[in-house]
Amino acid sequence: MRELRHLIEPEDFTLAELEEVVDYGLDMFENPAKYSDACKGKILASLFFEPSTRTKFSFDAAMLRLGGGLIGFADANTSSTKKGESLGDTIKVMGYYSDIVVMRHPKEGAPKLASKYSSVPIINGGDGGHQHPTQTLTDLITIKKFKGQIEGHTVAFCGDLKYGRTVHSLIRTLARFNTKKFILISPEELALPNALKRQLKENFDLEIKEVRYIEEVIEEIDVLYMTRIQKERFFNEEDYLRLKNSYILDNDKITLAKKDMIIMHPLPRVNEISPEVDDDDRAVYFEQSQLGVYVRMALICKLLEVGPYVRG
Ligand code: NCD
Repeated sequence: MRELRHLIEPEDFTLAELEEVVDYGLDMFENPAKYSDACKGKILASLFFEPSTRTKFSFDAAMLRLGGGLIGFADANTSSTKKGESLGDTIKVMGYYSDIVVMRHPKEGAPKLASKYSSVPIINGGDGGHQHPTQTLTDLITIKKFKGQIEGHTVAFCGDLKYGRTVHSLIRTLARFNTKKFILISPEELALPNALKRQLKENFDLEIKEVRYIEEVIEEIDVLYMTRIQKERFFNEEDYLRLKNSYILDNDKITLAKKDMIIMHPLPRVNEISPEVDDDDRAVYFEQSQLGVYVRMALICKLLEVGPYVRG
């Protein structure tokens, strides 16, 4: 019998497994035709209880490019959740209708709970301010493609490090991949949670530098990871309005940056990167969202043990 695996947080996979998914993703990007039937006859269900553009549609595109089919909802108001159905019941039934489920939920821990009821693999497409492991895979494939390797870079995170789940998942994973230095750029109110900082310091041999402004550190950075201020997670509108334009990266601010620095962003962007930066060779955020399709193809194959993951 196939072992049932889920991806709820990046720690569910070993480093070797993460890197293998990235490498198959790169091969799928180069040679998509090789994999066009890998998921023939399989169905992906996507259950999105929170808004999404990239995560939802990149999973759809990934499954279609693998020859599979799709069911699901992008608005929980159109599902029986609206009638009061529990998550457990919804998930049990989705296991009869599909082979693999991706879900996004505003409550931290909801995908973990879902995995307890599920007879098929569950992929966490983002749970509240907690984790976003498939964005981490997207970020890893981008770093590997543009910087040649995942390990050893000076990585700066800028913006909402408090609520940004993409940051929480990626920083833990890059620490496991032997990153030696993180630079955290944020207003004090949006700093990386202390518990996470402590966990990184206690478990890994790495340096963490915290600053308020990008200009203070721009020359040191290999990978600059910009993030959106997470409006929907603020408790009051005033705080959001005060902090929303904390960072606006423009051509002026990157004049002193390394020529081979890369600028990433999980998207959507609001104001934090001025559109003039899009034309700079160092801006890779649109390529990043494209690569997200291919790394998700590799992930689906892994969890379903199809394509390159067929057992001999
Ligand atoms: C991110 C998310 O949903 O956390 N978006 C995404 O999946 N690419 C980032 C964000 O919403 O700011």
